[in-house]
Parts: sequence; C-alpha cells; structure tokens
Amino acid sequence: MARYLITGIAGFIGSTLARALVEQGHAVRGIDNLSTGSLDNLAEIRSSIDFQQMDLLDAAGMRSACEGIDYVLHQAALASVPRSVKDPLASHESNVNGTLNLLIAARDAKVRRIVYAASSSAYGDQPTQPKQEAMSPLPLSPYAVQKLACEYYIQSFYRSYGLEGICLRYFNIFGPRQAADSPYSGVIAKFTTTMMAGQTPTIFGDGLTSRDFNYVENAVSANLLACLAPSSVATGRVFNIGTGESHTLNEVYAAIAGQLGFTAEPIYGPPRAGDIKHSLADIRRATDELGYQPKARFHEGLRKTVAWYLAEAEKKAPAAR
Ligand SMILES: NC(=O)c1ccc[n+]([C@@H]2O[C@H](COP(=O)([O-])OP(=O)(O)OC[C@H]3O[C@@H](n4cnc5c(N)ncnc54)[C@H](O)[C@@H]3O)[C@@H](O)[C@H]2O)c1
Repeated sequence: MARYLITGIAGFIGSTLARALVEQGHAVRGIDNLSTGSLDNLAEIRSSIDFQQMDLLDAAGMRSACEGIDYVLHQAALASVPRSVKDPLASHESNVNGTLNLLIAARDAKVRRIVYAASSSAYGDQPTQPKQEAMSPLPLSPYAVQKLACEYYIQSFYRSYGLEGICLRYFNIFGPRQAADSPYSGVIAKFTTTMMAGQTPTIFGDGLTSRDFNYVENAVSANLLACLAPSSVATGRVFNIGTGESHTLNEVYAAIAGQLGFTAEPIYGPPRAGDIKHSLADIRRATDELGYQPKARFHEGLRKTVAWYLAEAEKKAPAAR
C-alpha cells in the first residue's frame, strides 16, 4: 500500500484516479478548492479518502497535505483554453503559482515522486503529425504556456533538489463525470448532454478539427505506471498520453448522435480563439519507457461515456417529475 495525494480530486480525472486507487487498497488524500470540481464526483468513496477543501495557493495547507505522502498526482488546474484567454491572470495564479507552491511543499515533505497532468496544448498548431515529445513546444494560449511552464518547474525541481517528477501530456481525455455544464466543458460531455436535452450542439469551426480522444481509464493507467517507473525516467521527462488515433468533431458528433438516436444536423459556429486544428499523439515513448498501452478504444469509451450520462439523467429523472 502506498500513500497518494491527488490534487484536483473532485474533478473529472482526479476523482477517477481516486476511485482506482481506493479499489486497489491504497491510502488516498485529496485536495480541491471545488472551483470546477464537485463533491458529487467523490460520493461513493467519500468515506474511504481523506479529503480537504483547499486551494493550491494555500502554502501551509499544501505543507500539511504533502506530509507522509509517497506520490503526488497533480491534477488541479483551471483546465480550460477559453477561460485562460478570457482571464489569463486568474488561470496563471491557479496553474503556475499553485503548482510552484505544491512543488515546494512536496520537496520539503520529501515525497517520492510527483506525476503531473501536463497538456498536449504545449505543441500548438505545428503541422507535423503525430506530435513527438522531442518537438519544440509552441504554446498558443495562456493555458498552454501555463501547463508548459509547470513542466519546466518540475524538471528544475528534479535538477535543483532531486524531487522525482514525470509529466504526462494528456491529449483530449474524456469519460464519465467530465463536467458538461460550463462553456469550457470537454466537447464529448457537451455534445452528449446537449443532444440528450433535445438541443442541437454547435461545432466551432468546420467540423474537421481533429483530436486524439483518449478514454479516462487510459490516463489512470498512465498515472499508475508513472509512479512505478524506474527513477531513471522520473527526471522531469515528458510523455505523450494519447491513443495514436484521431477523430474529427464531425465523427464525434455522428457517433454520439447515432448512440442517442439524435437526427438533427450540427450547427457550425466560428472557430474558438486559441484552439488548434489537429492533434495526434505519438505514444512510443510512453509505451517503451512506462509500459503504457491505451487499452480502452475510442468507440468503446464513447459508448461507456454516453451510457453514464444517460444513467445519471435517469437517476435525476424521478426528482424532476
Ligand atoms: N481533460 C483533458 O482532456 C485534459 C487534457 C490535458 C490536460 N489536462 C489536465 O488534467 C488535469 C485535470 O483535468 P480535468 O479535465 O479533470 O479538469 P477538472 O476541471 O474536472 O478538474 C480540475 C480540478 O482542479 C480543481 N482546482 C482548480 N484550481 C484549483 C486550485 N487553485 N486549488 C485546488 N483545486 C483546484 C477544480 O476544482 C477541479 O476539481 C488538469 O490539470 C488539466 O490541465 C486535462
């Protein structure tokens, strides 16, 4: 049994990680300021984890949260490109200053390793596909700059203080519990819940925008493998966490519509500021060095995700009637 601290534990990926670790019998502590996350995401495991409502910017809080911890899985962030474009300072404070605060606390508490939720947005809109970790970064949005800056901080904490770190550059992660109720939500959550409400989703751009959509179970396995990887790879190294396949927004729309029996054609709107056109991961480094395999495939993940939103709506239905 190891002791884990999950930051952003009430969020989509953090809460999925927490359930997996609790199932495996590990001790899980989690912090979240509940800015975009929800305690509903932790409902079944609330009594099995040590949860504290706390902001990454709370230095004393981070010190106590890191006490006695083996592995920090750092998921907390304002995880949105449009939000960072609208308010770059607020997202910088959470994403960069908050991460630095956590790193200082993790260093002082002598945690074994930090695994960081980095982002494929670091690659920007470079035409080369698939994206390889050796490419020069080209962050376009404030969010992308912030996520990349934290990778550099993690590398510098390894070199300066010997704090082991691994940066997992997630490509678009989707699955149950992804927030669907804000303008910043992931596209699969948004399309699904909009169609379920009988409304027609808007596709920003021409629908040919493509992403390496990766089911959340694959991101969970990447985190667990990153904790177990030898120290020689935990030097702040960066790993793509995708599937090696991409799908366009038109395909995503059609697949969800097919599953829900939704027949209306999409509405097309202008492309969003800061969004990139195509994104596809080369996952060979993660496969070779971490043993990562994206076992959950896109259509299987999509089926499970849509089924989860339907089941949630069904649970809420009696109250609404
Ligand atoms: N979902 C994706 O496709 C994706 C892709 C690339 C990277 N990421 C990264 O993965 C991580 C998790 O993303 P997610 O999709 O689960 O997002 P999410 O919004 O569901 O979860 C983030 C959690 O962090 C919490 N949080 C935000 N700022 C905080 C702060 N200052 N202090 C404490 N808690 C704070 C929020 O309340 C939320 O519960 C983020 O770091 C994000 O940048 C996600």
